[in-house]
Order: sequence, then C-alpha cells, then structure tokens
Amino acid sequence: MNPAPDVPSTAYVPKDLPLGVSPVLYAISVPADRVPTAAQIALGDKLFNDKRLSADDSTSCATCHDPKAGFVDHKNTSEGIRKQKGQRNAPTVLNAMFNATQFWDGRAATLEAQAKLPILNPVEMGQKSPEDVVAKVRKIPEYVDAFKSVFGRDVNYDDLAVAIASFERTQFAGDAPFDHFIMGEENAIDAAAKRGWALFNGKGRCNTCHAGNAVSPLFSDQKFHNIGIAAHKQDFPQLAREAVSIVNSGDQKQIDELAIQSKFSELGRFLVTKQVNDVGAFKTPTLRNVALTAPYMHDGSLPTLFDVMDHYNKGGVPNPYLDGGMQRLGLTEPEIDDLVAFMASLTSAKFAAFGKSELARMNGLKNTRPNRDTAVAMGKKGDLGDIAPTPDIKAKNPASDGVFGEFVLTDGGR
Ligand code: HEC
Ligand code: HEC
Repeated sequence: MNPAPDVPSTAYVPKDLPLGVSPVLYAISVPADRVPTAAQIALGDKLFNDKRLSADDSTSCATCHDPKAGFVDHKNTSEGIRKQKGQRNAPTVLNAMFNATQFWDGRAATLEAQAKLPILNPVEMGQKSPEDVVAKVRKIPEYVDAFKSVFGRDVNYDDLAVAIASFERTQFAGDAPFDHFIMGEENAIDAAAKRGWALFNGKGRCNTCHAGNAVSPLFSDQKFHNIGIAAHKQDFPQLAREAVSIVNSGDQKQIDELAIQSKFSELGRFLVTKQVNDVGAFKTPTLRNVALTAPYMHDGSLPTLFDVMDHYNKGGVPNPYLDGGMQRLGLTEPEIDDLVAFMASLTSAKFAAFGKSELARMNGLKNTRPNRDTAVAMGKKGDLGDIAPTPDIKAKNPASDGVFGEFVLTDGGR
C-alpha cells in the first residue's frame, strides 16, 4: 500500500488513530462539528449501555452490539424486547463511523439518523415515539444534569443521538496484524495469511468488492450487491411486486419496520431505492474484525468463515439479480484455509484473544459444511458458463444457462 495522501490542513484528525485507520478517511467521514468531545463520548457510552432507553428496561444498544464481543450479538438475527426476533444480523459498530451509509441496505445516512431508529423499532427497543423516550430520560436525574452540562439544554432526541454517535466515533477497528504486515513488518502475519492476501486479490476476486488500500482500509466498496444470500429462500419477483405497492409511500420509520420485521427484509437495498436492480442487494460489509462477528451475512445464515468461503467458491446462489462479480472460483481446500487465515489477520490487537478462540471454534466446525459444493466450485457441474470447461454449445443451448428469462419482472418494479 502507498502511504496515505496528505489530509487537508483544515480538518481535525485525532493524533492517536490506530494503524490502519486512515486520517484521510477520518477527515471525510467525521464532520468538523461532530468531532466528539470527551463529555459527549462519556454520555454516549452510558446511553449506549443503558437498558432504560428501551420501553421495558430490557434492551440497550449493547444488548445487540456487545462491546466485549466485537460489538455484535452472535445470533443469526437479533432479538429485541420481549424476545422478539428481527430479520437481520447485527453488524459491528467498530468503524461504523466510516460507513458511507448505515444498515445492510444503507437506509440511514449518518450515525445520528441510525441511532434514532432501533430505539423506536417495535421489536428492538420498542419505544413508541421520540417524545416518549425524551420523557423517560428526563425522569432520570443524572441524565438531566448530564445533558445540561454537555449540550447546555434539556434532554432531547437529537442530542441523545449525537451523544451516542460521538461514542461510536471512538470505536475504531485497526491495529491488526495485517496492518503491521502491510506497513513493512514482514513477520506480523504467517505464511498462510500472506498466501490468503494474494488469493484475496487474485484467484478469489474478493477485492472487486472488498478492496483494501491505504485511503479506504475498510475492505468494503460501500456499495450494494446481490451475492445470492437471500436467494436461499425467497421468490424475489413475487416479493418485489408486493413490496412496491407498500414501500412507494414509505417514510424512513416504515422502511425500518419492513426491513427488521417483515419478509420483505430479504429485498435489501430495493426497499430503499425501489430499483429492480437492487433486489436482494446488501451493503458490502467491512472485513475488519470479521473473525469476531460470526454468524455471517445480513441474515446470519452462514455460521463460519469456512461456510462463507463455500458460498463464494461455488459462485453464490443463482438468481436473476446476482451480481456479475460472482463467479465460481475453483479454490482448493488449502486455499480456503489461507483466505480464512488472511481474514483472521484483520483482528484488532485489543481483540486478539477473542479472535483466536473464535477461529479455533470455527476450525472445529470445519467438517459440517452444508454450503460446500466442490463439483460446482471446480466447474465440474452446473451451468454458470465461467471457469467451467469450454461449453459444448452443440450439446446444450447456452440460452438455457443461468436464470435469465426465467424470472423477468413483468410489473411492479421499474
Ligand atoms: C435488537 C437488537 C439491536 C439493538 C437493540 C440495536 N441494534 Fe444496531 N443493529 C441491529 C441490527 C439487526 C442491525 C442491522 C439492521 C439492518 O441493517 O437492517 C443494526 C445496525 C446498526 C448499525 C449499522 C452498522 C452498519 O454497518 O451498517 C449501527 C451503527 C447500529 N446498529 C448501532 C446501534 C445503536 C447506536 C443502538 C442503540 C441506540 C442499536 N444499534 C440498537 C441490532 C440492534
Ligand atoms: C460482488 C461483490 C463481492 C465479492 C466479489 C465478494 N464479496 Fe464478500 N460480501 C459482499 C456482500 C454484498 C456481502 C453481504 C451480503 C449479504 O449479506 O447478503 C458480503 C459478505 C461477506 C462476508 C460476511 C461478513 C459479515 O460481517 O457478515 C465475508 C466474510 C466476505 N463477504 C468475504 C469475502 C471474500 C473472502 C471474498 C472473496 C472470496 C468475497 N467476500 C467476495 C460482496 C462481495
């Protein structure tokens, strides 16, 4: 990687950013008036961990984003008040300040806008309205005083979100063995992880969507792709047709409820843009600290990093909206191990012990791999027409390959 270009002199950037957190990215991601103060951070930390923000004192942000466990809950999909299950897997809050958009479908533009939604979501923290939240917090004397001293005014919903976002803007993911390696410490990662990094940028083609470089060190392009996760279980065209009529009038709160509580969740980015090409597309997640955040994908359907590799190796799951970047890879089992070793080298030093135990756990599950399909991955079976042997077009009409004509949307989307 090349050294990061200079940061504009007007931007404020903390001096003690961990290795792997780009000052350039900090400057463009943290608005000048949102550089957190110590008092805002302390208040935000307290709010993030306070179950009293929920309707029945049972659930805080930390319930689903446990600071000790990589800021996730390790459930397939999250569980909020009264044990209600949502439809989506909790992403980490580490480095969330650098996300171009928040949520798997990007439906919130900022950390502040994001923080306001789970508190009001009926299956997450269950408050009825911002006014209810504010009324409840105003009855807690320590907060009345804290808001006065931090913001100079009474408790209100906007300031509450600012405080939480300020805390989140201190939760970096950096200082991983990989960062030391890429800055020149040759032995910071082992040979397997080095081979994995080469595969990541080569045969594995991971860098098409998860590129990492000095300016954008997140291992995410911040775009939305259908990689065939939702295709496991849904009839997309039918769902899309139904959804269009519902979401056309939708405000942000309604979209939030569709995403968290309804079967339409699987439509992903489409709920936000209503563009047919976004059906089943989800945001490319960061890979920093990915060893800590199992299970994987927007629905938590892949239990380990080995299952993730099996999914990619066979080219995803065919569906009419599958991203063109998805092709079977023909990776061998040792190559899969190397890619997993590379991903594990992205664990921040402060989580090293937890990362190690998670990796050991996943290694223990290596022989239960329902997503593995070696014949497809190696091009010996299936109709994807990519790395398979040159197709015999006399034997088989290539128009029948893939899923082109099968599911064209006839109405509904645009
Ligand atoms: C019941 C569990 C639950 C609670 C409580 C909860 N979250 Fe989340 N959080 C999730 C899930 C699930 C998602 C992904 C939802 C989606 O993308 O549709 C998410 C997404 C996020 C994201 C976006 C990250 C990204 O990479 O896009 C941030 C930031 C976040 N939550 C912070 C918070 C904060 C702050 C609170 C408290 C005000 C909170 N969460 C409360 C489960 C929860
Ligand atoms: C076409 C773009 C694309 C390519 C190529 C790609 N990814 Fe992804 N990756 C995504 C998207 C989008 C998701 C989330 C999908 C979802 O949940 O529906 C994802 C999810 C993941 C996750 C789960 C992370 C989490 O927090 O749940 C891992 C791990 C991962 N990718 C690793 C890889 C590796 C390794 C490769 C190369 C073998 C790769 N990806 C290639 C776009 C891509």
